[in-house]
Amino acid sequence: PPILAKDRDGTAHTLAAADGDSLMVALRNAGLSVEGTCGGNMSCGTCHIYVQNAAPGQLPPVSADEAALLADLPDVTADSRLSCQIPVTPTLAGLSIVVAPD
Ligand code: FES
Repeated sequence: PPILAKDRDGTAHTLAAADGDSLMVALRNAGLSVEGTCGGNMSCGTCHIYVQNAAPGQLPPVSADEAALLADLPDVTADSRLSCQIPVTPTLAGLSIVVAPD
């Protein structure tokens, strides 16, 4: 599904991500500056994004582990998510995200 993603440098991308990937992998594959160094194991925080327009229920809820890691990251806002914890599904169509600062 098409997902609008803005990179750290402001570059806008439209992702045609494959179902089954995590959003972190989809962003990385599209060349955005998302490192995902822990491979989605919720230990690095380098997949931090801001979700700008999620509709209620569009994203999976934040788990306790995700919330705990987010709380340790700089620049966290109410829109913060770990992109490795968001599976790409058709329900993400139209979602708009921004890669968080380093
Ligand atoms: Fe490491 Fe998401 S990839 S926390």
